[in-house]
Amino acid sequence: MSLVLGIETSCDETGIALVEDGRRVRAEAVASQVDVHRAFGGVVPEIASRQHTTSIVQLTRQVLDEAGCAVPDAVAATNGPGLMGSLLVGTSFAKSLALAWARPYLPIHHIEGHLFSVFLEEDAPDWPFLALIVSGGHTQLTACDAPHRYRLLGATRDDAVGECFDKVARLLGLPYPGGPSIQAAAEGGDPTAFDLPRAMRDSDDLAFSYSGLKTAVRYALNDGGVPVPDMAASFQAAAIDILVHKTRQALAQTGLPRLVVAGGVAANALLRMRLQAEAGVPVFVPALRYCLDNGAMIAAAGYSRWQHDGAAPLTCTPAPSLPL
Ligand code: KG4
Ligand code: ZN
Repeated sequence: MSLVLGIETSCDETGIALVEDGRRVRAEAVASQVDVHRAFGGVVPEIASRQHTTSIVQLTRQVLDEAGCAVPDAVAATNGPGLMGSLLVGTSFAKSLALAWARPYLPIHHIEGHLFSVFLEEDAPDWPFLALIVSGGHTQLTACDAPHRYRLLGATRDDAVGECFDKVARLLGLPYPGGPSIQAAAEGGDPTAFDLPRAMRDSDDLAFSYSGLKTAVRYALNDGGVPVPDMAASFQAAAIDILVHKTRQALAQTGLPRLVVAGGVAANALLRMRLQAEAGVPVFVPALRYCLDNGAMIAAAGYSRWQHDGAAPLTCTPAPSLPL
């Protein structure tokens, strides 16, 4: 039995967790900074790093105490992509612990962490699978042939889908983060009220583009008198429709037998519902709390990396724009 401590500080959540054998969460804690950044309408990098510094020691103490663990077997931390200042707080802290405890240090790609969040579920997928990774910084379809063997099939050419939710929420005067705000506002709206563009829908390649959708919302709002619930519902319908369509296309092109959906936007109820109904293969999604940034997914990916590649040197430094 191995206990891996996972540390996530790539953006605005300080996530710490202790996970057994990459599957079973023994204790976890997340400090969200959403309330601090909301006043600015988005994440302020300098404030984010300071907040991580303030909460990281106490959260780690809390997690280890709760699990009754003095020293874990390895320490994993998000190494990128993300905000450099925030990544430096988490990785420096993780390396200090690894050094003091004489335990392996495991630097983890944030998106690989999101992928491994499905292995925290009882019903976890076998390999291979297609992954739809949708977050504030990423929108991509990846063929996952085996652990750590990935092929990028298509990604966004401009904005990420989560970023688009955040920007459109701002246009509609809805609070940050935009995803949950838009989902809530859309509940009372008519998704057919506005006919918004579905970019790249009719092309064979698996790339995405979300900047045109945001611009279309902006132009429609210029006319004035637009009911927010109708626009939220119409926007959500268009944004999710493209994801479902491209995912089906990728499944047909690759013949991959199962689908994993991960990242913050995987929390979206319409996306979850439509993929379950329309993917045509078994669909694996993390529990809602593991869709958003958390330490458990980093520990799960860390465990797998450790089994496959061993530890990394402590001289390894974070990379703000690391490809998967
Ligand atoms: O994975 P995540 O926590 O952080 C990044 O790695 O970016 O994802 C955050 C993103 C934000 O853009 C947020 O608006 C979006 O996920 N999000 C949602 C929902 N919940 C969070 N988007 C659509 N519907 C939701 N329910
Ligand atoms: Zn994330």
